[in-house]
Amino acid sequence: MTSEWNPGLYQSSYSFVWEYGRDLIALLAPKPGERILDAGCGTGQLTAEIARSGAQVAGIDTSAAMIDQARGNFPDLHFRLQDICTMSCHAEFDAVFSNAALHWVLRADDAARAMADSLKPDGRLVAELGGYGNIRALIEAVRLALESKFGTAPERVNPWFFPSVAEYAAILERHGLEVTFAALFDRPTALEGGARGLANWFAMFGGPLHGELRQPAFVELVEQFAAPHLLRDGVWFLDYRRLRVAARKRLR
Ligand code: BEZ
Repeated sequence: MTSEWNPGLYQSSYSFVWEYGRDLIALLAPKPGERILDAGCGTGQLTAEIARSGAQVAGIDTSAAMIDQARGNFPDLHFRLQDICTMSCHAEFDAVFSNAALHWVLRADDAARAMADSLKPDGRLVAELGGYGNIRALIEAVRLALESKFGTAPERVNPWFFPSVAEYAAILERHGLEVTFAALFDRPTALEGGARGLANWFAMFGGPLHGELRQPAFVELVEQFAAPHLLRDGVWFLDYRRLRVAARKRLR
């Protein structure tokens, strides 16, 4: 995750992030005694859920604020400020788990290499991230707003990494992770806050999208372009699209 986070707001208004991640834990199927890494643990709710299975779990995140909050929430668990790309934990883990974090990591090859290296042979990766086409209507609304305000918009507006099944499978395979399951699916998600829902989302997550989004007048312009696609009966629905993958580290 990025370093500019408001963990309090994240916990109070965006709990859907880990609530949707719960069934990813079913795919992980953690077992007592296993060593598991939660990569991009945020405020730690899923780390704690994994720990309830009896596994020994460690949570890492690149946001100091998130790690502080996670430690406060779950003082008995182990959390560390660490960038997945620079982690060096050779063959330490039975499984790596990651929910809603890897789309922030633009160095996807470095992340895959580090995750693979951290796994024991036959260890597993279970991850979900924004997939190809994620928040497409929202990104298009930002592009249209930039064009309407400045007469031009950058060719690429999306600052995140939203890979297709084929693209991400190729990255994982390159680093010795054999993909055993992959699915790309739509998950339209209602935002809290009624008419303010989208503006609040920008304040929480939109930092990398465009500096103009700090200007309320620009946010209103984006809202005008986005509303026909994303506003229903006074509630904003984000056009989330998830890529869910499971993989195993090759034995050799
Ligand atoms: C996502 O979970 O898909 C997401 C969250 C914040 C920014 C971009 C994508």
